[in-house]
Amino acid sequence: MGSMSIKRKLTGASVGIPPRHVDFSMAEDSPRYFYGNNATATMFFAMLSGSFPPGERFFMESVRSFRDRIEDDHLKAQVSGFMGQEAIHGREHDRLNALLAERGFDMESSDRIVKFGLKIFDLMPASTRLAATTFMEHFTALLAEQLLNDEGFAGRADPEMIKIWQWHALEELEHKSVAYDVYSIIGNSRLERVVAALASSVVLLPMIGGTWAWMLAKEGKLGSAKDNITGLKMLFGMNGFVTKIIPKMPLYLKSSFHPKDHDTTELECVWREKLFGENGALASEFKNKAALQESLH
Ligand SMILES: [Fe+2]
Ligand SMILES: [Fe+2]
Repeated sequence: MGSMSIKRKLTGASVGIPPRHVDFSMAEDSPRYFYGNNATATMFFAMLSGSFPPGERFFMESVRSFRDRIEDDHLKAQVSGFMGQEAIHGREHDRLNALLAERGFDMESSDRIVKFGLKIFDLMPASTRLAATTFMEHFTALLAEQLLNDEGFAGRADPEMIKIWQWHALEELEHKSVAYDVYSIIGNSRLERVVAALASSVVLLPMIGGTWAWMLAKEGKLGSAKDNITGLKMLFGMNGFVTKIIPKMPLYLKSSFHPKDHDTTELECVWREKLFGENGALASEFKNKAALQESLH
């Protein structure tokens, strides 16, 4: 074959953000308390899963508002990769949430409360909504990094249930700087970022905490001291899953912050191979692998 190449339009896949169509078999046999056999910790992850679809749709909308301001082809392709990945995350988490709802978990509350919380951002300018998105994407990327790095996490989670979380985490790292780079185009005001970070924390954290407690109460497990204490330790103890993220949150407040400065490329490489390599854990669920590869040539 000759070396002549026709210049193709850049796609999400060609800039490292491939929208993978992953079709999960939804771990129907997983234990009711799929995280550490503990209701408190399991309900935390169920609450997160419930908040992802409305949250991710908000992120997509806030980036879409400024899509026509992007001139750079590389960033345009990154944005389409980001949109594709987040849309599929929403779709697959909707499926997972339906399974959890069938088990009797109150998944509607987290969906409703997040939608309600995000409505408050509708009162703010579109640029502040995008700033809030960059803050929440920072949080999501830290959560993703922790999830992939923390062997304790993998050890406690049901091996089938964990796969959707690992796939989602990998893609969150792949696209972690996209919203931020779009925000940079429209000016990147540090003050606005700080305000948006504060507003997100003040509005969403208590709502999320409240929903978690509510879901546990409906499960009849709020006040089950042993379960509650064990679960809280898993998440917020000395070596807890969430505890390890907290010291990295303020990175966002630095005036020179950029998501890529906190380098996770090595971790992404390892997990791309583990999940989607030749013998990867999700190789057979990855439906558009050939099409994405084709788009690179
Ligand atoms: Fe996502
Ligand atoms: Fe994301």
